[in-house]
Amino acid sequence: MDIAVATNELTRVFGSFIAVNKLSINIEAGEIYGFLGPNGSGKSTTIRMLCGILEPSSGSGKVLGYDLAKESEKIKTRIGYMSQKFSLYDDLTVYENLNFYSGLYDVPVRERKSRIAEMVEMAKLTGREKELVANLSVGWKQRLALGCAIISRPSILFLDEPTSGISPTSRKMFFNIIQELANGGTTIMVTTHFMDEAERCNTIAFISEGSLIAKDTPDNLKGKVIKGSM
Ligand SMILES: Nc1ncnc2c1ncn2[C@@H]1O[C@H](COP(=O)(O)OP(=O)(O)O)[C@@H](O)[C@H]1O
Ligand SMILES: [Mg+2]
Repeated sequence: MDIAVATNELTRVFGSFIAVNKLSINIEAGEIYGFLGPNGSGKSTTIRMLCGILEPSSGSGKVLGYDLAKESEKIKTRIGYMSQKFSLYDDLTVYENLNFYSGLYDVPVRERKSRIAEMVEMAKLTGREKELVANLSVGWKQRLALGCAIISRPSILFLDEPTSGISPTSRKMFFNIIQELANGGTTIMVTTHFMDEAERCNTIAFISEGSLIAKDTPDNLKGKVIKGSM
């Protein structure tokens, strides 16, 4: 069994405030790992540390075998990350956004055209290539943002509340794509507030005030809630 993410007492403080408190988690390669918790519980802070964007205050962790503290530059180029705010250019077209990200992630020039076509198909954006992003609905934007995040074919993808603010139909469509990616071997860590999405994860971890309070399969967690041990 390959481990894609392993942390040991990973901690982040802001001044005297502990945002993430001694978090120890393992994410297996190829699984969908749902990261749940109330607003302000430290989900985004954790993801930003795992993406190599934010330095841990203490503890340690590895992503794809790279050390969070010492090899964050390597991590950044090998992962896909979609933040709560999609980083798209409104005044560029769908195609131009994908082309921009293929350059940013150093996709070999000779592969860019086919890679962009692959992303357009994956994100179900066929026919919209020349559309300005400003004119797309949120659901479409979100799928385009996903295409931009994985144009370099990362083996691990971090999704921070990717389905907030979009319609139930778009949410379902988005999660179907996530499931297809996982079936193809991509490891996915996703934060969500939606129970129907949590149920589609292989593992669910709950955090509260920066600490891990439960971790199990969706079925086992449901059992625990019903038995009242949680
Ligand atoms: N850069 C920062 N400076 C100070 N406090 C921060 C910073 N980033 C996050 N926090 C605080 O850390 C806590 C956890 O935030 P966050 O990780 O965004 O939670 P979540 O994603 O679960 O809603 C919040 O109380 C937030 O205000
Ligand atoms: Mg957040």
